[in-house]
Amino acid sequence: MWQNLPLLPEQASTIAPRVDALFVFVLGVAVFFAGLIFVSIVYLAVKYRRRADAAAPKLIAGSLALELLWTVIPFGLTMVMFVWGALLFVEIQNPPADALEIIAVGKQWMWKMQHPDGHQEINELHVPIGRRIKLTMTSEDVIHSFFVPAFRIKMDVLPGRYTTTWFEATRPGRYRLFCAEFCGTQHSGMIGSVTVLELSEFESWLSGRAVGTSTAKMGESLFQRLGCASCHRPDGAVPAPSLVGLFGSKVALEGGRTVVADEGYIRESIIDPRAKIVAGYQPVMPTYRGLISEDGILQIIAYLKSAEQGKGEAARQ
Ligand code: CUA
Repeated sequence: MWQNLPLLPEQASTIAPRVDALFVFVLGVAVFFAGLIFVSIVYLAVKYRRRADAAAPKLIAGSLALELLWTVIPFGLTMVMFVWGALLFVEIQNPPADALEIIAVGKQWMWKMQHPDGHQEINELHVPIGRRIKLTMTSEDVIHSFFVPAFRIKMDVLPGRYTTTWFEATRPGRYRLFCAEFCGTQHSGMIGSVTVLELSEFESWLSGRAVGTSTAKMGESLFQRLGCASCHRPDGAVPAPSLVGLFGSKVALEGGRTVVADEGYIRESIIDPRAKIVAGYQPVMPTYRGLISEDGILQIIAYLKSAEQGKGEAARQ
């Protein structure tokens, strides 16, 4: 309904028309009441203007009905905005489980993307139409923000932790990607594009590129290269917790706490291994800070999530 309104960017995702509908509602309410108040001011100013021959106006002490009216109506309208906005916000914040996961790492001043099959892109992202895409994002340095106006998504990208967002593109085309957080002198140049392709075009785009190694495979070779496997296996040099089936499981820590082994926990355990010690183990793991890039950590996480890891371990046992 609003796609031809030149004030708004194109609507190219499933969420875009819904965000716009809420925006138009809020704008409509604001314009209506601003108009009402403006007209009332002018009307009342003229109606009750001072006239030379007029007596003092009648004193009005108040009106309960009026008080209720102008309390209940704004309350109702703001609650509609709140509930509507909150439901939409929660949906945008929670990527669907079946989404295709793409990694995006921001750094001064570029975006690095990685597809699950290993294809990497810089300042570009190619996605198929009609497929839900989840972005797992982090930064190598300062705060950036991933902003695609046509999809109505904007999510901060933070050093030292993961944020996610998701979208499902509905129209083929090339859409602008911006960094929406001031991040240094070249902030305004930290731009790119998201290209939405029909499924067949997407497949030919993929096949037209050098065959990549999957993200999980890259993670596996990093895992070997960094020597993780020399401890994290049943007959390891030093007793260390097994990582098979770790992802998503509950981990009991020293001191009785438990944590869910999510992306953030695994990242912290690599960068700052002493922050959380698994119950029954010694704090002997060295930090890998500076030895591994953010992409590398995400590759290792992809490896730990994948079934490959279990197979590799089983083969060794
Ligand atoms: Cu990155 Cu602004």
